Amino acid sequence: MKGKSRAVGIIGTGSYTPPRVLTNFDLEKMVDTSDEWIRTRTGIVERRIAEPDVPTSRLALLSAQQALESAQVEAGQLDLIIVATVTPDMFFPCTASLLQHELGAGYAAGFDMLVGCTGFVYGCAVAREMIGVGRYEHALIIGAETLSKIADWEDRNTCVLFGDAAGAAILGPVEDGRGILTYSLGNDGTNADALKIPAGGSLMPTSEETVAKRLHYLTMNGPEVFKFAVRAMAQSSLEVVERAGLSMSDVDLVIPHQANLRIIDAAAKRLNLPYERFVRNLESYGNTSAASIPLALDEEVRGGRIKSGDHVLLSSFGAGLSWGSMLVRW
Ligand code: ACO
Repeated sequence: MKGKSRAVGIIGTGSYTPPRVLTNFDLEKMVDTSDEWIRTRTGIVERRIAEPDVPTSRLALLSAQQALESAQVEAGQLDLIIVATVTPDMFFPCTASLLQHELGAGYAAGFDMLVGCTGFVYGCAVAREMIGVGRYEHALIIGAETLSKIADWEDRNTCVLFGDAAGAAILGPVEDGRGILTYSLGNDGTNADALKIPAGGSLMPTSEETVAKRLHYLTMNGPEVFKFAVRAMAQSSLEVVERAGLSMSDVDLVIPHQANLRIIDAAAKRLNLPYERFVRNLESYGNTSAASIPLALDEEVRGGRIKSGDHVLLSSFGAGLSWGSMLVRW
């Protein structure tokens, strides 16, 4: 990254998961699957599901309040709110606008980021630049999803994978040499069809036919995404570490997108890093898309596992197909 920019870091985190637990055994009663299949193919044991009347903004709000408290920043001090989500309350207005009002965040600028599971890393990268140049002081970045609302509960290929959650981070100026050191973002639209909701947009507006054909649910080419994920996470992780003038062995903790334990395993192997350095919480939450990295980050921060000076690598992939890695010195 070129040009003079002040250091920007994560100065507070928060998260929220809905109380309702859906286990693999519950899913056995809903579709033709088994606890054994789900555990061995994905590593997931249970996930949290929001009640039908609870929108994404509710989860986002609760995680944001926690993050503000941990950063000791008042909502009124926020200049910018970015919500990464593929499950906004509605097409528009954006979820960030709803949150600005609910949090009482002055007239903070805000927008949603629709980059699938990679959205949180994208959001942090954008906020880092805006704070880095001195335009803003404090930004709230949230990854929040209610994927249960777009999962096809009749499709065993996908519905067993997802869960609902929100994670939030406050970004602000930090002392030189700390904070977000560098990032790598990318996108390869040649495989855009591998992960999508086919209908409901301008390409295929909602009709009786699209509803009858179940085209408003998430569809996925699992094996295609799997191959892409391992490659993209490994490449972009190496890139950020090199850009920061470090080597992989300097990385104290990797927080990968929580989609599948086998993906995390394969990435660890490619990066030649001990498996223990990779955070895993998908056993309890499944894949929570944009919420997965900030949720895991918040758990690690609160659990005291991230110490001052640690190098923490966030690495994600998702719809697009997109990828994003970011190296932080805590
Ligand atoms: N229970 C039992 N059997 C199942 C289930 C299930 N829940 N789901 C699929 N199967 C069957 C399939 O029908 C298939 O049967 P067949 O061989 O008779 O056709 C068999 O299991 C194997 O299916 P595969 O798709 O080859 O299984 P694979 O080992 O690739 O695992 C998985 C599938 C878990 C989806 C894996 O490919 C994966 O994790 N991919 C990446 C997914 C991902 O990261 N997505 C990101 C989403 S981000 C977002 O959505 C916002």
